[in-house]
Amino acid sequence: MKNYKVAVVGATGAVGLEMIRMLEIRNFPVGNIKFLASERSIGKKLKFRGEEISVELLTKNCDKDIDIALFSAGTAISKKFAPIFVNNGSFVIDNSNAWRMDKNVPLVVPEVNSHVLEKNKKLIANPNCSTIQMVVVLKPLHDFVKIKRVIVSTYQSVSGAGQKGKDELTEQIKAWVNGYKIPVANKFQHQIAFNLIPQIDIFMNNGYTKEEMKMTNETKKIIGDDSIKVSATCVRVPVFRSHSESVWIETEKPLSSVKAKKIFSKAKGIQLLDDPKNNRYPMPLFAENNQITFVGRIRSDISTNNNNALTFWIVSDNLLKGAALNAVQIAEVIIGNNFV
Ligand code: A2P
Repeated sequence: MKNYKVAVVGATGAVGLEMIRMLEIRNFPVGNIKFLASERSIGKKLKFRGEEISVELLTKNCDKDIDIALFSAGTAISKKFAPIFVNNGSFVIDNSNAWRMDKNVPLVVPEVNSHVLEKNKKLIANPNCSTIQMVVVLKPLHDFVKIKRVIVSTYQSVSGAGQKGKDELTEQIKAWVNGYKIPVANKFQHQIAFNLIPQIDIFMNNGYTKEEMKMTNETKKIIGDDSIKVSATCVRVPVFRSHSESVWIETEKPLSSVKAKKIFSKAKGIQLLDDPKNNRYPMPLFAENNQITFVGRIRSDISTNNNNALTFWIVSDNLLKGAALNAVQIAEVIIGNNFV
């Protein structure tokens, strides 16, 4: 079996570490692996398959012989370095927002649109974490009966803001438990412990945040249907890991909750967890470290009487399906199609 030379850019970050773990757990055929990060990480060692590997500095003159580079070091680094890797002949799977809406860049969730991957489109974008888990659930319904409109509220964990997001929640909880003054917010706009913040990323002119508009625009591009209308409210919550979403959809024709459950039970990448009698439904605590996206609380909207609106609850590990796992799954399609 062929082995590949893989680089992880941003290897020391919250998503980078999960990319390394996913490559290992999923037995990706790695022949050689490079861990790249900033000067802050020089000298650090990370484990891969039991071996300690030193983190190297990301520079323009990095190894030119990489087959697949997984990027998760932020938008500025992706803008600067992804084209350099592509020019050197590598596939780049980029987890940042830098290239997602570029017409020439495939934006991919393998369960939904792996057909848009091409051998000579070497720069590939990994979608926003909240968008990924939503489209995995929407697509099988949309294939059955066209979805016209989506209204979604998210409950996004602090790990979506990287290691610093996790650290800030930890420090604030520790201070509260020990009876100290809670430190002033730094990573988030406000205190996140014991609070909810209805702002993720900056505000746009239309009153929505950039994160919310990512959900609107990326959903259309991934599902391949510009007519789907999405209105999102994205909220940061004091949960360490896994994003949750309350989703309402309007379909072109009637769709019962029974049929929706049947569709979900056969769909790729989804697990139906909808057992109200036994108080069982998806929750962030149980989605953590799981590669599946969970859907539950499926019901027909009682505020309409034509059976064309459903509401449900989606939970997935934002660092896995929302980021690292989806990137590694894209890499699996690339090698499966013999693009490299
Ligand atoms: P480093 O740990 O050396 O700062 P997170 O999203 O968890 O904050 O992680 C961000 C990742 O991006 C880290 O691996 C971080 O490396 C990396 N990174 C940040 N700035 C740079 C940079 N200028 N060059 C290379 N890697 C960077």
